[in-house]
Amino acid sequence: MLKPHKNLLNMGAISREEIEIIFNAASAMKEICLRDIKKVPTLRGKTIMNLFFEPSTRTRSSFEVAEKRLSADTINFSASSSSITKGETLIDTANNLQAMNPDAIVIRHPLSGASDLLAAHMNTPVINAGDGMHEHPTQALLDIFTIIEKTGGLQGLKISIIGDITHSRVARSDVIGMTKMGAGVTICGPPTMIPPGIEELGAKVTYDINKALDGADVVIMLRLQLERQRQMLFPSTREYSKYYGLTSKRLANTSKNIIIMHPGPVNRGVEISSDIVDGPWSLILDQVNNGVAVRMAILYLYVIGDSDASFA
Ligand code: CP
Repeated sequence: MLKPHKNLLNMGAISREEIEIIFNAASAMKEICLRDIKKVPTLRGKTIMNLFFEPSTRTRSSFEVAEKRLSADTINFSASSSSITKGETLIDTANNLQAMNPDAIVIRHPLSGASDLLAAHMNTPVINAGDGMHEHPTQALLDIFTIIEKTGGLQGLKISIIGDITHSRVARSDVIGMTKMGAGVTICGPPTMIPPGIEELGAKVTYDINKALDGADVVIMLRLQLERQRQMLFPSTREYSKYYGLTSKRLANTSKNIIIMHPGPVNRGVEISSDIVDGPWSLILDQVNNGVAVRMAILYLYVIGDSDASFA
């Protein structure tokens, strides 16, 4: 049962067993997504508020699709359409939203810790849809679900995460979740983009992309998060691409069964070449597809909280 957890704020808070409960529910949700009529009454009468204070394509739309497929009533806020622009604080926003008795809040925010702050001021479950450079737990869950679907499990798998690790909430959540599920995780990037202490989360570190690719079963490429970098951390994107970009030439020396993933948005020709994005190794669109089922499962389990019920 996920009942003891009011919120989903980070990957450290949930156990391997609880991750498996989410995936069991996600498999059932995936079956619903394949039906002609992709809608069940599971969250009928429940109200979900989506607060997106930062741009998003995949996360925002997949939460909305997930909510609609579960028949929830959804309310969408963006930074520009909320009273945050008039100086209202996040805590005042939380208090006002709480007064309307929603059944769950989904929040994306540019500041690390914003979802924790909101959760501390609300009785309603809060789902972190990405907070600054901190965590993106629903992305990690859909990444792990996608790998399990393809390989059967993470135990003993070698996973390399390559790119701007310092500014990546996905990297942090993936390292925590994937090591918990038994994978060996290596992170790779320029020294200026590797945060101190990342080994404490259970990851190995290399600065050499060829070493990161050697023997890897799964490679997760991350974009340069220029919007979060206060200064340029590499001489130019062209040089970054030369030393850390994934190309078919680099891929030629890897396992034939290698899996390539990317949480998006992809910068084609910078961290990954177009032929790899669209090639047979790529699970990038499978990640997006699974994002809906995994988020349906999360909403169900955090709003209703019964892992034994039928969803049909
Ligand atoms: N993966 C991800 O968070 O993408 P969006 O920023 O488009 O939501």
